[in-house]
Amino acid sequence: MRADDLLPRPLADYLAAPLTAQFPGRRAGQARFDGPAGTLVHAAVADAVAGYLAGPMVSNDGGAYPAGRHSDALADWARAAVRRLLGAPGGHVVFGPNMTTLTALFVRAAGEHVRPGDEIVCTELDHEANVAPWRAMARRRGATVRTARLVEGTLPADAVAEVLTGRTRWVAVSAASNALGSAPDVAAICAAAHRVGARVYVDAVQAVPHRPVDAAAWGADAVVASAYKFYGPHAGVLWIGDEAAEPLRLAEQPAPAGDDLPGRLELGTLAFEQLLGTAVAAEVLLGWDRAAVAEREAALAGELAQVLETAPGVRRVSPAGGDRVPVEVFYLPGVPAAEAAEAFAARGVSLTHGRFYAPGPMAAAAPGLPAALRAGVAGYTTGEDVAAFAGALKEVAADAG
Ligand SMILES: Cc1ncc(COP(=O)(O)O)c(C=O)c1O
Repeated sequence: MRADDLLPRPLADYLAAPLTAQFPGRRAGQARFDGPAGTLVHAAVADAVAGYLAGPMVSNDGGAYPAGRHSDALADWARAAVRRLLGAPGGHVVFGPNMTTLTALFVRAAGEHVRPGDEIVCTELDHEANVAPWRAMARRRGATVRTARLVEGTLPADAVAEVLTGRTRWVAVSAASNALGSAPDVAAICAAAHRVGARVYVDAVQAVPHRPVDAAAWGADAVVASAYKFYGPHAGVLWIGDEAAEPLRLAEQPAPAGDDLPGRLELGTLAFEQLLGTAVAAEVLLGWDRAAVAEREAALAGELAQVLETAPGVRRVSPAGGDRVPVEVFYLPGVPAAEAAEAFAARGVSLTHGRFYAPGPMAAAAPGLPAALRAGVAGYTTGEDVAAFAGALKEVAADAG
């Protein structure tokens, strides 16, 4: 199966259009900076999912009839597409509703092999979804959690290496923060973890939309991502390398979908339309000139940072240095974030507000401060969007003053 089999016209045609024209959800007068929470959907994804749902091939898998066989082929193809997207040959690809659910299931399975006295390393950079389940599992299993600390909003590999010991079983680390944008050196972290015999579970949710991910080059043992953050449908994907997967076979879990490993983490019938949409989104990213898209995003992120740095009274929380993905967190003094977000929305600018389920980064970067505002650049962001943001910021700040 190929993406072209599911589309009304070749994928190459979609990809030949200017980036902004590849997103049918874009609207004049609407500047969408909410990508870190969820992006617009690519036209090819929307067409493929709609065409599938309206067509004759909708079926459960395992059937000896054309639609049943199509579902089998679709699942195989979707797993292969995710492997290519994550640079992850071999291993197992698991589909689920989102990163949080997949991580909870994975940690439950991995926890079966964690013993009292073992150690888990979490980081101050990570989203709660990659911290809370590890903490809960460690409590249940009598293991200890050690936390790698941020240094000026970044997570140096040494900060992780410092908390590794011969008892570390798993390191749970983010490839890019949803609050600070900081992107640690995952390969160096994996190498340090492997030197003490630990495995590494990488949250690539915010990395995949902005940069090529190479699980093999990282040396990661498991990589998780969310398709709706990379222009796909609301779905999550998890790749687990063969060595890390092997012991999980022993975990006692209900396995109504079969007794191979994905069957244990994928419970019940697969969401075929989401697999399909995820695979098409993966093909889109693989088909883009990623370096050119990243360069364009970085230029726009630079403009956005400049707007924030020069706006009177605005406090920009994102660290000045280090490798980063294009997300900005900031405060407008004197205006609660929820109110400010509404004022931006009234001016056609979509921002997210809150603490972004990232208490570690937010406490480290903005200690004692309340909810913040967040603006992220996506592949479809334009200079006009940034100008709209700058104009809205001026007006909202003036109203507050
Ligand atoms: C870095 C990061 N990790 C994990 C998550 C959780 O993802 P999901 O909502 O797909 O469970 C998010 C969501 O915002 C995120 O940004």
